[in-house]
Amino acid sequence: MSKLRIGVVGAGNISVNAHLPAYQEIDNVEVVAIADLDLDRAKAAAEKFHIPQAFDSVEAMLEGAELDAIDICTWNNGHAPVCIAAAKAGKHVVCEKPMAKDLADAKAMEQAIKDAGVAFMLAVPGRFNTQNMAVREMLEAGELGDVYYAKVANVRRRGTPSGWFTDKKTSGGGPVIDIGVHSIDAAWYLMGTPKPTRVSAQVFAPHGDYQTKGVGRWQGIPCPDNQFDCEDSGAGIIHFENGAAMLFEATWAFNGPNHTDVQVVGSKAGVTLDPLTVYGERVGYLSDDVITVGENNRFAEELKHFADCVLNNKTPKYPLEQAVQMQEMLQAIYDSADQNKEVTL
Ligand SMILES: NC(=O)c1ccc[n+]([C@@H]2O[C@H](COP(=O)([O-])OP(=O)(O)OC[C@H]3O[C@@H](n4cnc5c(N)ncnc54)[C@H](O)[C@@H]3O)[C@@H](O)[C@H]2O)c1
Repeated sequence: MSKLRIGVVGAGNISVNAHLPAYQEIDNVEVVAIADLDLDRAKAAAEKFHIPQAFDSVEAMLEGAELDAIDICTWNNGHAPVCIAAAKAGKHVVCEKPMAKDLADAKAMEQAIKDAGVAFMLAVPGRFNTQNMAVREMLEAGELGDVYYAKVANVRRRGTPSGWFTDKKTSGGGPVIDIGVHSIDAAWYLMGTPKPTRVSAQVFAPHGDYQTKGVGRWQGIPCPDNQFDCEDSGAGIIHFENGAAMLFEATWAFNGPNHTDVQVVGSKAGVTLDPLTVYGERVGYLSDDVITVGENNRFAEELKHFADCVLNNKTPKYPLEQAVQMQEMLQAIYDSADQNKEVTL
């Protein structure tokens, strides 16, 4: 097998604007089919990206197309049923973040993947951008020393998407599970993915479906019975087995300035991203080094890596165990907020 035959499930935003264009840039994948609950959307994507077959469900696609793997780009509540159906049919799986809408779904996916003995990778593109890859290299080379602290923020002043994103039964939650996962994962990966042990967090929903004038809003596709019942901000602390801790903030709506920060601090040096700056000492003086790493298409890098792992039997950069651990952290954030106390993982 020199090319992995992939069927994409979901023909919405991330599929059409990121994954399908990325597949056009890489040479170890052939996209042979696409499925969406909305068949017209699947057909439109098939026409635009020259995909031979379009279907209205993963089941029809598994039945009617010759595939090695599937790429899950559905709403979060679709990740588990689609993954489980594919695994049962012996197909490898790459799945958009978050792994699932909740931990129970993620555990069911884990079981199906293990039972079937197929490959799984969680698709979090941050692990494949040039900055994060450079910092991970520094971590592995020992340049940061022992990493003991991280602080991340994904703060939008007014940026709540519409559509399925705000419907908890479909999304699993608001900004924590939607955008918080990106920055929490970036820091966790750059800390060396220590084992999470305790979480104390709170979520808030003071703004809800705001009517603020003069601001735009991402128009997401509505799901059946679309409700607005999730948080619009969340914050907390995650503790790890090695004594390290991470503070996080994630908001869609907040009365404070927009900012996205990832800061990871080690005994030898600390790092902030955008621009990638290393805070340390040189010959006894404080130094702030800005590192130039260039740009890449992180989605193309990610999907090419997944295909390479399947074709050459390698462990993916975001393996199943870490995907489940990330979902455990997300679940613990919501559980801590629900119970108004620290929770142990
Ligand atoms: N990596 C990133 O930066 C990034 C960015 C945006 C979205 N995402 C993730 O991608 C996924 C999709 O988000 P989106 O913005 O593309 O949403 P979207 O609503 O634009 O598209 C989702 C599509 O999936 C279809 N769908 C839903 N459930 C399905 C099912 N069970 N079977 C087949 N089709 C189904 C919908 O009809 C829709 O066309 C989400 O999990 C989201 O978290 C990731």
